[in-house]
Amino acid sequence: MSLNLDPRQRAMLEAMGVMLWQPLAADESIAKIAEVTKIAPENIAAHAIHQRPAARNEQKFIAPVPSQAAPKALTPSPAIDLTQVTTLDWPALQTTVANCQACGLCQGRKHTVFGTGDRQARWLVVGEAPGEQEDLQGEPFVGVSGQLLDNMLKAVGLSRTGTGKQGVFIANVLKCRPPANRNPQPDEVAQCAPYLQRQVALLQPDIILALGRFAAQSLLQATLPDVATLPLGKLRGQVHRYQGVPVVVSYHPAYLLRAPQDKAKAWADLCLAMNVLRQSPAEIA
Ligand code: URA
Repeated sequence: MSLNLDPRQRAMLEAMGVMLWQPLAADESIAKIAEVTKIAPENIAAHAIHQRPAARNEQKFIAPVPSQAAPKALTPSPAIDLTQVTTLDWPALQTTVANCQACGLCQGRKHTVFGTGDRQARWLVVGEAPGEQEDLQGEPFVGVSGQLLDNMLKAVGLSRTGTGKQGVFIANVLKCRPPANRNPQPDEVAQCAPYLQRQVALLQPDIILALGRFAAQSLLQATLPDVATLPLGKLRGQVHRYQGVPVVVSYHPAYLLRAPQDKAKAWADLCLAMNVLRQSPAEIA
């Protein structure tokens, strides 16, 4: 890792607190979603057109699709055929997530949190689950830890509204908020996993940055069966794989807010991810 930082990088690190040192035809799409979710097509159409206006960059910000109009009436319905998620395109996937009732989390949510950013980004950042603010706004990492995440991304030239080299897509393992921000339960992670899997398949990122224990466990359990027993520190500093994509594990921003002394390690993780990117076939070609 090089510490030859230019003034811009120094300023970015300072902002991070490191002391120095975006379609199917609508009818087709709705038919597909109805098949997967077992929700009546007329209801899906209603959800699909009631999109919130894009909050930041109109071109690239992925406007969240509000969940069912009356969330309290939702009951978990395992009728969703999650195996069919692998055939969905971006809009159909987003609408499917917005209508998901596969686990109990659908009952308490205000919004599903699909993810945000450039759907052609080389970077995918994966967090744990929406918190209160994310649930209210339908966008990942908009709370205090999101501010730190934005600064971390800025330090490596990325922004959630960026495109091209500045592009990043930010998603979570869970698309719905666990009550009172409790830890995700194994069944919730298992039900939600096909959505992240499909996001990765559609995005085809060159690097995945897994933030925190749940993101690491969820992404690495297929290749590292004992991942749940390993401390996060043991997962850092190496390049793992998920669906063939390199994965770098780092600390969750919420943890870094409590343990600022570990921000330097998070910077090292970002440097490792940048090095992996530099060696990616797209970069070498
Ligand atoms: N923490 C996460 O892991 N994800 C969010 O979207 C917000 C907080």
